[in-house]
Amino acid sequence: MNKNPEKQWLLDAVKKVPGGFSGHVGWQSPSNIALVKYWGKHGNQLPNNPSVSFTLKTSRTETVIDFREHSAGGLKIEFFFEGAENAPFGSKIKSFLESIQPYFPFLDQLALNIQSKNTFPHSSGIASSASSMSALVMALLEVESTLTGLPVDLQKASYFSRLGSGSASRSVFPKAALWGQTKSLSQSDNRFAVPMASRLHPVFAGFYDSIIIISAEKKEVSSRAGHALMHNNPFADVRYQQAVQNTDRLIVALQDGDLETFMQITEAEALQLHALMMTSEPSFVLMQPNSLAVIAAVRHFRTAHRVPVCFTLDAGPNIHLLYPQEVRDQVLQFINESLLRYAHEGLWIDDRVGEGPTKIA
Ligand code: PMV
Repeated sequence: MNKNPEKQWLLDAVKKVPGGFSGHVGWQSPSNIALVKYWGKHGNQLPNNPSVSFTLKTSRTETVIDFREHSAGGLKIEFFFEGAENAPFGSKIKSFLESIQPYFPFLDQLALNIQSKNTFPHSSGIASSASSMSALVMALLEVESTLTGLPVDLQKASYFSRLGSGSASRSVFPKAALWGQTKSLSQSDNRFAVPMASRLHPVFAGFYDSIIIISAEKKEVSSRAGHALMHNNPFADVRYQQAVQNTDRLIVALQDGDLETFMQITEAEALQLHALMMTSEPSFVLMQPNSLAVIAAVRHFRTAHRVPVCFTLDAGPNIHLLYPQEVRDQVLQFINESLLRYAHEGLWIDDRVGEGPTKIA
């Protein structure tokens, strides 16, 4: 493995766009659900602990870029979200692209029209930074590939997705990914995620993620603010040690198809993430009464019926139910009969482990 890919990317960067250069590219990229959570960072978007996730299938962002040479110089962007021009998103994307321009010097010779849309419902409150940043970066790398003729490199995609949103680094790989350094996986790295599909027992490759929408409101505290509060969290050091232990144990459980250990670690991680929020200064609570009602119901159902289903949460109140294909029918019945009463307008998203980004144009 190249120990210093950044240097290589700078050397290989395309500096000049041919006159009249134009085109149309598009990629879709999925969201992911963290099993071991990334919470706390340093430097330029480097994680304070390793994290592991399943790549999802249904919850995706589709991003299409029309580009043309623009000899006046300076990066030029128009950004449309779900068909409508969105200036606030557009200016965030412009700042992001300017920040990575040393690696993509051709950008200031292009006018970009970026169209982006999500496949998950508007009103679900599902965070889309992982899918949207990874889809944007895949499309950007496709523009570059139009210039170089070389295929899109997933390590590079993960690296630049990470600079947009840490968790986005994990979305570019099929099935599962690990981001952040841990001794138990020699190729692991803080700068980009690594693929985990080949280390996954078949039971996990067919896993479902049924997301029960508890609230569709925008969250009160952003992930950015939450990460920052870890600097003064009195439990931070213990947390980072536990995340490493959980990562190392989870890697083995994923390989062995060990559902018991998987469920134990996944739930402990979700509750620990929310415990960190509750012990930050100032503290904040993103779970809601119905989140706890669903958690209690899941634990009761698992014990009473001996069905391997567990829960996790992102930085929000929604509950992700994770379970293998073989118990799909039982879990669907459980969701319909016992959980939808807690869901916002009865809303849930039927997702599962997926294959990562695909080219759409
Ligand atoms: O990628 P960010 O900065 O939005 O942080 C995401 C943090 C969690 O979703 C809570 C956990 C994770 O690892 O995805």
